[in-house]
Amino acid sequence: MGNRNAPSMTGMDRAGPVRGLPARYFTDPGIHEQIKQKVYFTTWQFACHASQVSRPGDFLAFPLFEQDILVVRSRDGLRAMFNVCQHRGHKLVEGQGSRSRITCPYHAWTYDLEGRLVGAPNSGCVEGFDAGCIRIPQIRVEEFLGFVFVNLDHEAPTMEQCYPGVAEAALELCPDMECRKFAHEHAADEGCNWLTAVENYNECYHCKVAHAEFAKGVIDPDSYRIAPFGGGKVLRHTSLATQGPDAWYDVAGSDYGSFFLWPATAIQIYPGGLLNTYHWRPLAVDDVRVHRGWYSADGQVDDTLRRVIDLDRDTTFSEDLELVKNVQRGLGSLGYRPGPLILDPDGGIDNELSIAVLHQWLRQAVD
Ligand code: FES
Ligand SMILES: [Fe+2]
Repeated sequence: MGNRNAPSMTGMDRAGPVRGLPARYFTDPGIHEQIKQKVYFTTWQFACHASQVSRPGDFLAFPLFEQDILVVRSRDGLRAMFNVCQHRGHKLVEGQGSRSRITCPYHAWTYDLEGRLVGAPNSGCVEGFDAGCIRIPQIRVEEFLGFVFVNLDHEAPTMEQCYPGVAEAALELCPDMECRKFAHEHAADEGCNWLTAVENYNECYHCKVAHAEFAKGVIDPDSYRIAPFGGGKVLRHTSLATQGPDAWYDVAGSDYGSFFLWPATAIQIYPGGLLNTYHWRPLAVDDVRVHRGWYSADGQVDDTLRRVIDLDRDTTFSEDLELVKNVQRGLGSLGYRPGPLILDPDGGIDNELSIAVLHQWLRQAVD
């Protein structure tokens, strides 16, 4: 029977149409825990933009589930480590900033930027106390297209191996991507499972229905496509820029593209090279924080970028918040049975082939 999880190009298998995932994948705390261990803790997670940690001593802290993580620019390059003191477990730093040493706020144990313990008050009185043996456990970190990613799995393949071809294709759309600087971020708690939000991002079947402004102000809906890309766990979104009179800004002569990197990052280029990202960090089985980042050549938000950020936040972004919260409630309904996915072998915007692909990747990881 082959892989019964594989989306067929006709949308049919012997049991009838391919359907959405059972609701438990979006609502069950036990499955959510498995997803944490088998998906989030073994894949590359968006940390920040490299320009946010550009000088030695710069750091940025963020949570991944219950794990606190710290990205630091040390003298020998970029590092990531657990944001936890090796004395009695206090969190070392909050937010972002710059310092030459990392000192725990509890009892002032002090670490260098490589995570080695270099001072602990009155530790000289402890026979056998060997500061040289104490170091904050390190985490895999990579810079990719100017973004910083971390991976809790020391055995994981590199980003280039996980997402082959993405760097080249993204640079074609946005040649100066690696030189961009962080310009702006906003975030929101979506009140839904992370996969509800990621599914919503990765299909445009709802775009003409729910995103009227995006569909006429940024993209050309008739040319919008989403397809697996490069042989990795990547969904590439492509579209011409809007052709109509309602463009949000001057989009002439360039295309739209996005690269969704499983499980929870999208690197998106609006026409004209307006670089932006989404990344999603789960807060609970039924809540996820979505972060929306924007990047410019000089780190400034000029008038065009300001206009696009505001329009995007007030339309597409806000519209999706309502949709996904509503769907999450429905996934908890006793009256919900997953319906057939719209798998159109001819491609096109009114298509959920990408949803079937996401379900396949998830089931490979946790079933
Ligand atoms: S817990 Fe950090 S110094 Fe005590
Ligand atoms: Fe949407």
